[in-house]
Amino acid sequence: MKTYFVTGGAGFIGSNFIKYIIDKHQDIKIVCLDKLTYAGNLANIEEELNNYPDRLTFIKGDINNQELVEYIFDTWEINYIVNFAAESHVDRSIEDAEVFLKTNVLGVQNLLNIAKDKWDLGEREYRNDVRFLQVSTDEVYGSLGKRGYFTEESNIQPNSPYSASKASADMLVRAYNETHNLPTIITRCSNNYGPYQFPEKLIPLMINNILNGKELPVYGDGLNVRDWLYVKDHCRAIDMVLEKGKAGGVYNIGGHNEETNIKIVKTLIKELDNLLKENEAYKEMAATKDDYINESLITFVKDRLGHDKRYAIDPSKIKKEVGWEPTIMFEDGIVDTIKWYLDNQDWLKLITSGDYKNYYEEMYLDR
Ligand code: NAD
Ligand code: TYD
Repeated sequence: MKTYFVTGGAGFIGSNFIKYIIDKHQDIKIVCLDKLTYAGNLANIEEELNNYPDRLTFIKGDINNQELVEYIFDTWEINYIVNFAAESHVDRSIEDAEVFLKTNVLGVQNLLNIAKDKWDLGEREYRNDVRFLQVSTDEVYGSLGKRGYFTEESNIQPNSPYSASKASADMLVRAYNETHNLPTIITRCSNNYGPYQFPEKLIPLMINNILNGKELPVYGDGLNVRDWLYVKDHCRAIDMVLEKGKAGGVYNIGGHNEETNIKIVKTLIKELDNLLKENEAYKEMAATKDDYINESLITFVKDRLGHDKRYAIDPSKIKKEVGWEPTIMFEDGIVDTIKWYLDNQDWLKLITSGDYKNYYEEMYLDR
C-alpha cells in the first residue's frame, strides 16, 4: 500500500489529481497538505473527504512549515510527494512577487530538504519505492515565436515573476537530485482547463463573466497563444510518470492544442450559448440570459506586462518513455467544462461572494 503526500490538493489541479488517484488506486492512502490560500477550497475535495475518511487525510498548513512537514513524514510512510502547492497566477506575481518566492521557491526547498533527511537514500542506486515529483510548468521555457516547440532541452528563460519562481524550484529539484541522490521527477505541463479552476484564470473567468453579462477582458490583441490540456489528462500523465518515469527525469506534458486567446473566448461564447439554447436542463437559466450572450461582451484591455506570446509543448518524450498521450479532445473537454460550471453555480457563487472561505473551513475543521 502506497502513501501519497499531495501538497496543494485543495487547488484546481491538485483536487482533480486526488479525485483521479483515489478512484484509480483503491489501495493507496493520501495525505493532503494545503495552506488554503485564496486559491485553496475544501469544497473541491469535500466529497472525497466524506467518502474516504480512512484513505484521505487533510491537513491545513504551509509547505514552509518544517515541523509540520517533518510530522507528516514521521506519521506516515510517504512513498510519493507530489507538489502542486504554489502561487499560480501570473497577474498576481506582477503585482507582488514576494509570496511567490516564499511558496514556490523556499517552500519547495523545505520539502526537498525534509524528503532528503527522512528518506534513507543510498549513494548509488535510486530507491524505487519513493519519488519527489515537482509539478512545474512550460512557462519556465519562456516564450516562443510563430514556430517551434518546447522540448525538455529547451533553455530555461522565464519571463514573469511566477515563471521565474517555478524555474528556481526546478533548479533546486535538479540540485537535490544531483547532490543528494533524491529520486526526483519534474513535469512541465501546458495550460490546463477543466472543473474546479479558480475563476481568475482565462477560461473560468470568461465563463463566469459571460453568465453574468460582464465584459470579457482580452489582453492586448488577443493573439497570444496557449496550448490547452484537459486537467484529467494532466492528472493521468502525473500518475503514469510516477510509475514509469525515470528518477532525475524531466517530462513535458501537452496535447498539441494551440489556440489564440481571442478564439478561446469566442468559442466559450458560442458553446455556452448553444448549451443554454439547446439543453433542456438549462432552459430556465437561459430565459434570463438570452439577450446578452454574444461577442459584444468582448473588450480589449491593456496588455499584461511581459506577456509571453506563445507556448507550445513537444510531448514526444513522455509518449516514448512513459506511453502517455492525451485522450480528451478540446472540442469535447471545453463543452464538459462549461457544463460543469453551469451545473455548479453554487460553487462559483460561493467563491465570487468570498463565502467559500468561512463556510467550508468551519464545516470541515470543526468536526
Ligand atoms: P491553484 O492556485 O489552483 O492551487 C494551488 C494550491 O496550493 C491551493 O490549494 C493553495 O491553497 C495551495 N497553496 C498555496 N501556497 C501554499 C503553501 N505555502 N503551502 C501549502 N499549500 C499552498 O493552482 P493550480 O492551477 O492547481 O496549479 C497547481 C500546480 O500546477 C502549480 O504548482 C502550478 O505552478 C502548476 N501548473 C499549473 C498549470 C495550470 O494551467 N493551472 C499548468 C502547469 C503547471
Ligand atoms: P491565464 O489563465 O492567466 O494563464 P497563463 O498566464 O498562466 O497562461 O491566461 C491565459 C492567457 O489568457 C494569457 O495569454 C493571458 C490571457 N488573459 C486574458 O486575455 N484576459 C484575462 O482576463 C486573463 C485572466 C488572461
